Amino acid sequence: MQDIIELVLEDHHAIARLFDKLQAATVAAEQASLFALVKDELERHASAEETVLYPRVRKEAVDGKEEVKDAVEEHDQIRESLKEVEEHTAGTELFTLAVAQLVATTKHHVGVEETDLLPDFGANSELSEREALGEKFQNAKINAPVS
Ligand SMILES: [Fe+2]
Ligand SMILES: [Fe+2]
Repeated sequence: MQDIIELVLEDHHAIARLFDKLQAATVAAEQASLFALVKDELERHASAEETVLYPRVRKEAVDGKEEVKDAVEEHDQIRESLKEVEEHTAGTELFTLAVAQLVATTKHHVGVEETDLLPDFGANSELSEREALGEKFQNAKINAPVS
């Protein structure tokens, strides 16, 4: 079993690598297929955080509720940014601009999770609990509703 914090960080790195590939792609078909991967990964990751990680973080004595409220708002901004990209055709300038907005919105949120939410949770939990949550997180990603 794996610590949920490690799993979340692994997802963040995978998403950052996909963003790099997407922004480096110059062929429209490649941009479209990379965006489909990014979207699937982001939707599954956000859904699993909301069903497994955030309900536990909310229970932290200090800051938990506030951190989760902000994080869910940021997830909704990421979902809006995904929709914005989908309104444009791969290979166009507007698609590229919408992708840049999605990357910026996501990077901001990942930064907040990695500097505040996850360290606070780590300091307020035991490894055994985080491993049990890690298993649930992986299952939630597999079963996540994706659009
Ligand atoms: Fe998140
Ligand atoms: Fe995350």
